[in-house]
Amino acid sequence: MKLSANLAPRLLLTGGAGYIGSHTAVTLLEAGCEVTVIDNLSNSSAKSLEAVQKITGRKVSFHQVDLRDTALVEAVLRDEHIDAVVHLAGLKAVGESCEHPLRYYDVNVVGSLHLLQAMKAANVRKLVFSSSATVYGDPKFLPYTEAHPTHPTSPYGQTKRQIEVMLQDLSDSQAGWHFSVLRYFNPVGAHPSGQLGEDPRGIPNNLMPYLAQVAVGKRASLTIHGDDYDTADGTGVRDYLHVCDLADGHWAALQHLIDRASPEFSRCDYFNLGSGVGHSVKDMLHAFERACGKPLPVRVGPRRPGDLPAFWADANHARNELQWQPVRDLDNMCSSTWQWQQAHPNGFND
Ligand code: NAD
Ligand code: UFG
Repeated sequence: MKLSANLAPRLLLTGGAGYIGSHTAVTLLEAGCEVTVIDNLSNSSAKSLEAVQKITGRKVSFHQVDLRDTALVEAVLRDEHIDAVVHLAGLKAVGESCEHPLRYYDVNVVGSLHLLQAMKAANVRKLVFSSSATVYGDPKFLPYTEAHPTHPTSPYGQTKRQIEVMLQDLSDSQAGWHFSVLRYFNPVGAHPSGQLGEDPRGIPNNLMPYLAQVAVGKRASLTIHGDDYDTADGTGVRDYLHVCDLADGHWAALQHLIDRASPEFSRCDYFNLGSGVGHSVKDMLHAFERACGKPLPVRVGPRRPGDLPAFWADANHARNELQWQPVRDLDNMCSSTWQWQQAHPNGFND
């Protein structure tokens, strides 16, 4: 993606050492931006940022800081002369959020509140936020458009929606705030270098990292969570998109935001970032088997509590407004994941 004329912003990535953050850092550095990362490393390793620097040949300024430390975040914003923030830091496991809701409200909602307070104090008023398709909840119609009602069904989803509301309220309160809320669908895949990818701690919750660990021999078999849904093959359907396409979506959203920013008014725009196509668990399994060149052991288990049968995005708003659309297909998502997993069976510890 090309850099707009006279645009080389200095960006703060919260959660930049994580899976999506590290891929986004690569895209932003390659686009010519200056990138500063804050991350408390609660779910990541600083080695991801070493990989980012190796891939891009560019320096990342890293601060091991917790989002909730307003004074330190404000100091970073001032010292690094930050123009805009990409806010990815947070907790993201749906099941864990049901067991520990207060932890999720604290890190996600309170953490975002502190970040916004620090931004206000440092007069940084542009932010791109990592939201999620999970804010929509039970589909009233499909594909979800941005106008679909929001009824999140887990504490995690509630925290994402509450942060969205906080951004909306702030932009309504005063001119000069510019927000872009990105509702991600299911990001998967890894950087084509094989040096950067998803490195989940413990047993993966999500389908793609689980499949990758079965393929590399770390897990005995994939359990399909239900094959009796009202879908073409009975298994759950999701909208998977390549994490590098998602990273490009952040850059598109940032350019859109920065190009249109004015002290005269505020804005809070919402964009679905998805492929617009649904794939079943069995589709993903077969694509991964093609990528790794062998059949994978599978068993069918009961439905996972809280899972929706099927959802996918209407991503036309992002295509029309941001001129963004995913270009990497399912085979690329699987082959890049497999390349990363083979080279790093133990993630960044290898
Ligand atoms: P990740 O866990 O790999 O990255 C999140 C990062 O935030 C981690 O590096 C973690 O150490 C950091 N972090 C957590 N709490 C922090 C705190 N209090 N202060 C500073 N840093 C903190 O997750 P990811 O998959 O890269 O997700 C990034 C964002 O995208 C999250 O906000 C997540 O909710 C959102 N999202 C992810 C998905 C997905 O399927 N991966 C889907 C929709 C939305
Ligand atoms: N699945 C299995 N077996 C597994 C893991 C998953 O069959 O071992 C199935 C699920 O039942 C579902 C599909 O694979 O049908 C995708 O499940 P994931 O856990 O990979 O993804 P989810 O759609 O449940 O949720 C993910 C993120 C959320 C985010 C949401 C947005 O985990 O944080 O995408 O679309 F909100």
